[in-house]
Amino acid sequence: MAGQNRKLAKIFSLLLLISAVAAAVVVAAAVVAAQPDELRNIRVRQGSPFKIALFADLHFGEDAWTGWGPLQDVHSINVMSSVLDHEKPDFVVYLGDVITANNIPIANASLHWDQALSPTRDRGIPWASVFGNHDDAHFDFMGTTRLQLMDHETGRNNLSLSQNGPRNLWPSVSNYVLQLSSSDNSGSPVAFLYFLDSGGGSYPEVISYAQTNWFNTTSQKINPDSRVPEIIFWHIPSIAYNSVAPSGMINKPCVGSINNEKVAPQDAEHGIMKALESRPSVQAVFVGHNHGLDWCCPHKKFWLCFARHSGYGGYGSWARGARILEITENPFSLKSWISMEDGAVHSEVVLNS
Ligand SMILES: *[C@@H]1O[C@H](CO)[C@@H](O)[C@H](O)[C@H]1NC(C)=O
Ligand SMILES: *[C@@H]1O[C@H](CO)[C@@H](O)[C@H](O)[C@H]1NC(C)=O
Ligand SMILES: *[C@@H]1O[C@H](CO)[C@@H](O)[C@H](O)[C@H]1NC(C)=O
Repeated sequence: MAGQNRKLAKIFSLLLLISAVAAAVVVAAAVVAAQPDELRNIRVRQGSPFKIALFADLHFGEDAWTGWGPLQDVHSINVMSSVLDHEKPDFVVYLGDVITANNIPIANASLHWDQALSPTRDRGIPWASVFGNHDDAHFDFMGTTRLQLMDHETGRNNLSLSQNGPRNLWPSVSNYVLQLSSSDNSGSPVAFLYFLDSGGGSYPEVISYAQTNWFNTTSQKINPDSRVPEIIFWHIPSIAYNSVAPSGMINKPCVGSINNEKVAPQDAEHGIMKALESRPSVQAVFVGHNHGLDWCCPHKKFWLCFARHSGYGGYGSWARGARILEITENPFSLKSWISMEDGAVHSEVVLNS
């Protein structure tokens, strides 16, 4: 009996060992699959330019327990639906302040985030998102962190190309790059799209030295000779926007339709502008944050642009719309304009440097 038991115990521990090894292999495979810094691709469609719609400052979830909050979110859905149906973009960028988080308890933040994504998802259009200062802003309730919001988005949406970014930059989360690839099947890059987390909410409104270092390292690795154009997206304008801001009327070389408030820039500058200025491949930076500004102005060898307030949430009642980017390959060109909720189009500008 005792011998029998010892034998059984031996078999049992062998089985335990085998399952432990198997589990370790599974865990290792999952870790490999979840590599945060893999370079993901989107392809230009054969025979047509690649069009991107920027949805900025939607501010979903304000006053969700009253009548006006949910109603303004319906209006924001209508803005996005109208722009998507008029412009038929290939890709959408959610440029931060997707929700106003300080009014929202934990389970509801992702719910509102999801509502904001729905017009794009319903039309089968892929997208990417970056965080603004309101997405995890000072919580009146138990807050939802940037990581939780991003995990929720990417875990449930196969059209999302958003990423959590390198771990060493957390809690700064939406830092990643996407490759826009040629339609000709070569897989060769037409442009690199960089997304950076300009902070705010639970931490300072800056692009840090570490993020700049990540941008430097990544761009030098994947585009060492600056041959491929680079387009940059984040939420809060950098301090450099102050130096190009029109005073009063928007005159050439700036192009836009509203200049109704002061630039509300990041708290500090930790080198990202110097890094961008050192690369002839950088074409333009696109930000949201200021609802009353929609201009593009040249800065050194590239452009600094605002998007257009897309949401009925957030301050200001300027008519809603979205900035559109149109990228053509061979030869490369980057054109932009603003497309309004009612279908009107204005402020067209060519941005390639
Ligand atoms: C959170 O969502 C639930 C339903 O999903 C709703 O009943 C509740 O009122 C919401 N709370 C807030 C503060 O929005
Ligand atoms: C993507 O998700 C949708 C619904 O969530 C599903 O219908 C579709 O089959 C999925 N597509 C792929 C390629 O996994
Ligand atoms: C990034 O690159 C620029 C240009 O080469 C350089 O001046 C700057 O010091 C670098 N910054 C960091 C943080 O690596």
